[in-house]
Amino acid sequence: MPADINWKDKIPEWWEKAVFYQVYPRSYMDSNGDGIGDIKGIIDKLDYLNDGTPNSLGIDAIWFSPFFKSPHYDFGYDISDFCDIDPCYGTLEDFDRLVEEAHRRNIRIMLDLVVNHTSIEHPWFQESRSSRDNPMRDWYIWQDGVGPRRRPPNNWKNNFFGSAWEWDEHTEQYYLHSFLKEQADLNWFNPEVKRAVFDVLRFWFDRGADGFRLDVAHHYCKDKQLRNNPIFFLKDDVPDKMPSYDRLPAMNLFYYFCLPEFQVPKYTKHQPETHRILKEMRQLMDSYPEKTSVGEVISEDPRTTASYYGDNDELHMNFYFDLMFCKWKAGAFKRCVDRWESIIPEGARPAYALSNHDQARAFSRYDQGAHGDWRARLMALLLLTLRGTPFIYYGEEIGMKEAQIPRHRLQDPLGKKWYPFYPGRDGARTPMQWEYRSGAGFTTEEPWLPIGPELDSRNVAKQEKDPHSLLNLYKRLIWLRKDLPALQIGNYRSLEKGVPYNCYLYLRELDEERLLVALNFSYLKKIINLTREDRPCEVLISTDPRRQEKAVGKDFELAPGEGCLLKL
Ligand code: NOJ
Repeated sequence: MPADINWKDKIPEWWEKAVFYQVYPRSYMDSNGDGIGDIKGIIDKLDYLNDGTPNSLGIDAIWFSPFFKSPHYDFGYDISDFCDIDPCYGTLEDFDRLVEEAHRRNIRIMLDLVVNHTSIEHPWFQESRSSRDNPMRDWYIWQDGVGPRRRPPNNWKNNFFGSAWEWDEHTEQYYLHSFLKEQADLNWFNPEVKRAVFDVLRFWFDRGADGFRLDVAHHYCKDKQLRNNPIFFLKDDVPDKMPSYDRLPAMNLFYYFCLPEFQVPKYTKHQPETHRILKEMRQLMDSYPEKTSVGEVISEDPRTTASYYGDNDELHMNFYFDLMFCKWKAGAFKRCVDRWESIIPEGARPAYALSNHDQARAFSRYDQGAHGDWRARLMALLLLTLRGTPFIYYGEEIGMKEAQIPRHRLQDPLGKKWYPFYPGRDGARTPMQWEYRSGAGFTTEEPWLPIGPELDSRNVAKQEKDPHSLLNLYKRLIWLRKDLPALQIGNYRSLEKGVPYNCYLYLRELDEERLLVALNFSYLKKIINLTREDRPCEVLISTDPRRQEKAVGKDFELAPGEGCLLKL
């Protein structure tokens, strides 16, 4: 995109106006009674997601966590065939039907591109491991041990704790793995690797995929000289960023005691060569019409995260995870969003999510006793009215809670390893709650993970019938958003003056259309002064089911915990 583009007049792309929905395929809908979700099950639920009418949720795109062939050490994030569907989820024909049925409903498909590493069961790794002189040896990162005791080549740690190097008895060398030892890191300096991965993109684009979420996109390249990472000392600002996990106290302990052991990932993440690869990948994507990407980039420094937009020639969108870690304070959310808005390059599109398959569910993070219900409503309004593309995590729309999984039912390798200090990620991955009955309408048999808490109220069937449910709030918000270009593509400006304590107010503006979002994070009612507005203002939507009137006076009263979208 030329640097002198007039962003105001740019015609928005579909993904800039879209609302995305993340499906964790294993937990969405089981069509064959094996307790595991599958593609056919997802197809059965497409009408729930968007049947073209406001009776459905109305989302525009789905990001699928991986359903490719995998031995499931990390539940699909360890892929053993990039171009096939795992039999537990279905077949390539099922995928084709999914694309067809989704596109028929104007739902786009985003796949998960997990190419920092492959499963050690991937034929590429099997070849590479077979001998030191195999032509594919250099597709992965192999190194000799150091000294007579053949210690690991350097101090690099994997993201799941412990050394990033695993000894291979057969060829007597170490291989690098930034995650589990069953997930071997590809060598992105090898042009053949790049070529093979780019072929994977082409394969899925040609089959109808509309985009990719790039798993750990900051991780692809590592220092060629394999230099040691500097040691990380607990920084003053880290505890402040941590969420309120008072329902999950073990989580706090985990962060406090484990963070000092982390390293500054100077030589393992954010290498300049990774940006070059992302630029090439972007060119490939842009050679197809209407494809998009969103990156999972994790950095302590938001400027580093923002650098992955490049000059609008790397990622189309980039998640800003700090939003998930804000404390329950209006100021924390405001500062977080303002910071990101001020850092990302002009014209760059933010991507926001409240939860995903790696984090405890937002509902429980903010529940703090029994506040989850109104806070989830406020968060829904925030997510769907910020400037940026919202990603809803499945079940968030019905207020699914983080589940406490008994030890013997744990599946996530992290939970198994760190129990009871860290429960792992299973609590956020429990089956979608469709109905109040055994199996939650997800399966007829024993589900792979237990059903989450409070199924009697947190299920789709019940909430569909209640006009004031969280689900119906989500539906109204999503459909309203479609009619309000200012919400989809307008400017964002947070207000400073005259904002009551613990409230967050921002404007969304496009040409003549001016919208005000007012969020009350407190337990007190708040008055917002609208005397400067010369036109009568109107409430378009409120998170408080008790609000009756639409027209508002000069002094607008927000109920405790209420959020409103106003037309100015
Ligand atoms: C990030 C994914 O979101 C997470 O689930 C996975 O374990 C790691 N990447 C490794 O692929």
